[in-house]
Amino acid sequence: MTESAEQLRSTAAQEPVAAEIDTNTPAISRVYDYLLGGKNNYDVDREACQAMIDAVAETPLLARANRSFVRRAVEYLVGEAGIKQIVDIGSGLPTAGNVHEIAQAIEPSVRVVYVDKDPIVLAYGRALLSTDDNTTVITADLRDPDGIFADPEVRRLIDTSEPFAVLLGGVMMHLEDHEDPEGVAARLRAQLPSGGYLVHCGCADPGDPRAKELNRIFMETSMGSRCFRPVAEQRVYFDGLDLIEPGFVAVNTWRPNADFPDPGNPAHAMLVGGIGRKP
Ligand SMILES: C[S@@+](CC[C@H](N)C(=O)[O-])C[C@H]1O[C@@H](n2cnc3c(N)ncnc32)[C@H](O)[C@@H]1O
Repeated sequence: MTESAEQLRSTAAQEPVAAEIDTNTPAISRVYDYLLGGKNNYDVDREACQAMIDAVAETPLLARANRSFVRRAVEYLVGEAGIKQIVDIGSGLPTAGNVHEIAQAIEPSVRVVYVDKDPIVLAYGRALLSTDDNTTVITADLRDPDGIFADPEVRRLIDTSEPFAVLLGGVMMHLEDHEDPEGVAARLRAQLPSGGYLVHCGCADPGDPRAKELNRIFMETSMGSRCFRPVAEQRVYFDGLDLIEPGFVAVNTWRPNADFPDPGNPAHAMLVGGIGRKP
């Protein structure tokens, strides 16, 4: 059953952090943390990762490639497009090279709001950001874009009349079809002023049987049943936006730099990304 926007908002507001850490079920944030080489994960997360790695050995490479795309996207937004405000939805646990660190290394005045539905992100994020007035973290749900933009912390740091960027790194893939990913993307685009940006990246099915196999394991480990949607189904998230060159493509072909891991590996076709600008 789909939760109403009001239910999603009140859930995010009421739940205490400690009570939320379920160590019996893999959590997307912690699985991704493990795949990136982090330490904020439990046995249940590591077992889920092992099943993925047994099926497709390049799974950690795909996680690193996803993170590399996020880094390059932020460098583009701040360094080339002059963006000074970022809402990073599905931000994940703190990792090496957090969005605010990448952005503020280029332009110290950049303001960043991290949004994740997993309260563990808030717990770790608070500690990391205790001395940074330009960056905050909230617990909220991608499925409720209006709730996100009504949040007092978002309103405090993001002036929605000025261009800002919405960053969707590896998060749209975790929405089910009945949660209406196209509609969610449309509601996020509606929040952007002219000159605002939408960034999206995540898994895709390019017709590689390994994508189907990984998708099956993602489903069995509660990561979502349609994590590997065909590229055409995801391109619509950018409807009405101008795609920045080279478009919505496999991430190893999106302005790769010297740090990109194993750029020639064919597994990269299972990971796509792009940036759209509202005219
Ligand atoms: C694969 S991680 C990606 C982290 C980071 N954005 C990146 O690309 O490096 C996905 C994150 O999205 C979060 N997430 C999944 N579904 C969400 C939802 N409906 N609303 C908000 N966050 C969500 C998970 O908790 C997890 O931390």
